[in-house]
Amino acid sequence: MSRSRAARWSTLLALPALLACAYVAAQGKPATWSGIGRAATQDELRAWDIDVRPDFKGLPAGSGSVARGQDIWEAKCASCHGVFGESNEVFPPVIGGTTKKDMQSGRVEALAKGTESQRSTMMKLSTLSTLWDYIHRAMPWNNPRTLSADEVYAVTAYILNLADVLPADFTLSDANIRSVQAMLPNRNGKSTAHGLWLPTGRPDVRNTACMRNCADSPRVASSLPDHARGSHGNLHEQTRNLGAARGQKTGPQRSEDNPAGEFAAVKSLTARSACLGCHGLDRKLVGPGFSQVAEKYRSSERAETYLAQKIRDGGAGVWGDIPMPASAGLNEADALLLARWILKGTPE
Ligand code: HEC
Ligand code: HEC
Repeated sequence: MSRSRAARWSTLLALPALLACAYVAAQGKPATWSGIGRAATQDELRAWDIDVRPDFKGLPAGSGSVARGQDIWEAKCASCHGVFGESNEVFPPVIGGTTKKDMQSGRVEALAKGTESQRSTMMKLSTLSTLWDYIHRAMPWNNPRTLSADEVYAVTAYILNLADVLPADFTLSDANIRSVQAMLPNRNGKSTAHGLWLPTGRPDVRNTACMRNCADSPRVASSLPDHARGSHGNLHEQTRNLGAARGQKTGPQRSEDNPAGEFAAVKSLTARSACLGCHGLDRKLVGPGFSQVAEKYRSSERAETYLAQKIRDGGAGVWGDIPMPASAGLNEADALLLARWILKGTPE
């Protein structure tokens, strides 16, 4: 039997077992299958089952004030998203583009008219549960799942205060969150009038098949404009390293060869420590661009050991007040390699 047929057979054979497991789970009885793991414990289920739905099902009880949220924001969020949620560096701005008028209509005018050059989180947000849930599960980006429920309430309230939805003396809680939902600028902005969710809807494309005088080749309608190519370093190296789909090379192209493979390990080291989340190769993000660092230490003899130490231990004060966290898990040789790579101009 060929491998793929064997695989198909094993899938077919596994199916009744899976159905039986689902049946047992639905009956609430412990699974008795041996050799295929064990039933999840209640604690494991609780840790996994954290989603908050648009009707607020799943939302834990709690509360947090705008003032407390401001402290959390400034300590744990502002370094990436900007003091007022306006930063465009790590992600499109969280705040901006909404008006008091939008709060009345529930539909962000700038979105409908396309008058803003980009879309902030607050412009798009139609369900408050999504903001709460996302912060709770994914933020701060470098330390997700570390905020308590009360802290998530607080920082959510602060974001809404920055967006002029909530007053500064507000305390957001599970008891009043529905009334705040009713104030969201884009609460009516989500459409279901297309075939994506409703079986009766029409698809949201309106193309008709071309039958004559058709173009020889398709024209790509969306592309990265030249002025934006270098703005976040080389995307190719950052996010598309799985499977066959490679990101387009952006940013300045480097010609230096690396024949000895001296820096072969750099890519996995920078990925593991998320260096490029905070540093552009040629541009300041949260921390200085690596080319700026190379420039600054060009004539310093001890730069390599100094930078290696700093990369391992973190610290602040050289480029500004924002600290670099310590990079746990980098040994001395790794850190020296990274320092050398930066000082040599980040060769590919
Ligand atoms: C180290 C940088 C960093 C820090 C610190 C950080 N974020 Fe983020 N944040 C990001 C990045 C990167 C994304 C986009 C992530 C993605 O799309 O996968 C993001 C996305 C978000 C979004 C979603 C935006 C959208 O429109 O989808 C919100 C809301 C948010 N962050 C809130 C917070 C809050 C609140 C904190 C502090 C508790 C925080 N962030 C701390 C980097 C950071
Ligand atoms: C959470 C954000 C963040 C991450 C992740 C991060 N850095 Fe930094 N880095 C910074 C900040 C902020 C500074 C500026 C610190 C200062 O002013 O002293 C900095 C400074 C530096 C410097 C210059 C130090 C000096 O004293 O001049 C180097 C080199 C550097 N980082 C390399 C790295 C490398 C390599 C990694 C990955 C292993 C990394 N950084 C990860 C934020 C970060």
